[in-house]
Amino acid sequence: MEEPRTGRKLLRWSLLMRALHWTVATLFITLALTGLNLLLGKFVFRTLFGDAVWAWMIAASKVLHNYLGPIFGVLLVIMLVSLIKENIPKKHDWVWFKKGGGMIGKGHVDAGFANGGEKAWYWLLASVGILVVASGFVLDFPNFDQGRDTMQWANIIHAVGALGLTAVSLGHIYIGTLGTEGALEGMTTGYVDETWAKEHHNLWYEAVKDQTVSEEELAARKAGGSGEPSAAKPS
Ligand code: HEM
Repeated sequence: MEEPRTGRKLLRWSLLMRALHWTVATLFITLALTGLNLLLGKFVFRTLFGDAVWAWMIAASKVLHNYLGPIFGVLLVIMLVSLIKENIPKKHDWVWFKKGGGMIGKGHVDAGFANGGEKAWYWLLASVGILVVASGFVLDFPNFDQGRDTMQWANIIHAVGALGLTAVSLGHIYIGTLGTEGALEGMTTGYVDETWAKEHHNLWYEAVKDQTVSEEELAARKAGGSGEPSAAKPS
């Protein structure tokens, strides 16, 4: 952040959305690791650890991947539906891309609740993510009379799509942790600092700035045991 924190906070992510995000993220990472093991593991781990360990590794990967995949698919759809309103492309998102998210030229670029980059990640999940989930279902349930060619196409679409998403997810994870000071605390505590909101999501900030709360108010709310309020939304 360029300016100092004001200490006033905005609730960006409700407890429900944080739980959903971290469950989807954990499942995604588990599926990526077990999927990579199913695709390439034998070239690495079989030679490294020998047949006995490898047999255990591949059997465990297969069971985890096949059972967690459908759960991931259902939760991904729920997350995408919950976030669709915030991710509708707007004119200012094109400007965001043209200015490289603020890296080209001077000053900050306009962004609503989600900026252009986040919307791109959202729509990649809503397109390629759904293709990977759908092809996964075709592979998981081979008992619907689908032919060998359908299974082969499903296999290719699933592997290529999942590898692409895994690569892009590394960018999302970097930006969500080391890349953007103050972003991760939003997804862990729910709250972001007013300065962060102003600098990264100025249009959202303008719409919800009357809902800021001081750190003292937040501490008092927590001590009083009042339930989790809903995220700041334009009134
Ligand atoms: C360790 C891994 C991850 C970290 C540290 C992380 C971090 C974050 C953070 C900090 C945000 C909030 C950004 C903001 O407030 O503007 C966010 C949003 C989001 N994350 Fe993650 N994330 C991770 C993995 C994932 C994975 C694997 C997925 C999907 C499969 C995912 C999907 C999303 C989506 C859809 C959003 C909302 C973006 C939008 O509304 O456009 N995240 N993530």
